[in-house]
Amino acid sequence: MSPSAHHDPEIKEQIRGLLKNRNAILLAHNYQRPEIQDIADLCGDSLELSMKASQTEAEVIVFCGVNFMAETASILCPDKTVLLPVAGAGCPMADMITARALREKRKEIPDAYVISYVNTTAEVKAESDICCTSANVIQVVNAVDPHTRILMTPDKNLAQYAAHHTERDITWWEGYCPVHNNLTTKQVERVKKEHPEAPFVAHPECPPSVLELADAVKSTSGMLSYVQQSEKSAFIIGTETGILYPLEKANPGKRFIPADPGMVCADMKKTRLPHILAALETLQPEIRVPDEIGIRAKSAVEKMLAVPIK
Ligand code: 13P
Ligand code: SF4
Repeated sequence: MSPSAHHDPEIKEQIRGLLKNRNAILLAHNYQRPEIQDIADLCGDSLELSMKASQTEAEVIVFCGVNFMAETASILCPDKTVLLPVAGAGCPMADMITARALREKRKEIPDAYVISYVNTTAEVKAESDICCTSANVIQVVNAVDPHTRILMTPDKNLAQYAAHHTERDITWWEGYCPVHNNLTTKQVERVKKEHPEAPFVAHPECPPSVLELADAVKSTSGMLSYVQQSEKSAFIIGTETGILYPLEKANPGKRFIPADPGMVCADMKKTRLPHILAALETLQPEIRVPDEIGIRAKSAVEKMLAVPIK
């Protein structure tokens, strides 16, 4: 695949034409490559993309993101064809817990209510009581009966963030996102010193010590709204660097400084335009969650979608 193929206007036209012919919708996560965000019908965070998937009338959903996102679309829309253009685009954090390990943990704390981050496999969602995303985690935790013990999987950082902001007793799984968990207070303090005027906006997958330094903790789309509403002209961004493209596109007068330019999710960067074209031509690779898992997983995802976020 030649690098120029990624920006070829012809391939973009072919993709748009096939999307129309197939009655398909293209959803892209905020970390996707710029040329993919540019041709998507909707770019967003995990919550927005799940909601869009649940509402679309399209017959085919092309999900430019990682495996758990396409699975969530299939869970919500079992009758639709869901395509993940690169079959191997996964999420290392989602692979840090299995359904069997969660069943074992439940035996240790049978009274626990299990909240699983959407960054989990369909099998793990099927073993969970409810899901959450980075955008609604506080509201989901607050919706749980206050006398009930909570187990959160798989992200220890998201769980600690939720515990801190809800004062709930939360037991957490020891998983993490390798991209966010590597960000250190030392790196953030150095960038803050270089740009004292810039607020630091962090994703809740960052470690608690890093979040303590943050002026705002937001999902990826939460960052976009925060920046748009702010009067500041520069921002330090603590998440995967793919978010810099939509931030810059929507805010031409503002400057964005990555807390660490090395925060790159290799899986999010696997998808390129030729993969999308091939997926639309062949209707492969298809992600289909079997009913015996999908029905239970759907209950956890739909409970989450029913929690009001504002
Ligand atoms: P958002 O839901 O905030 O977009 O996050 C998804 C993700 O994978 C972050 O690493
Ligand atoms: Fe998973 Fe982290 Fe990549 Fe998000 S950035 S998809 S949590 S590995």
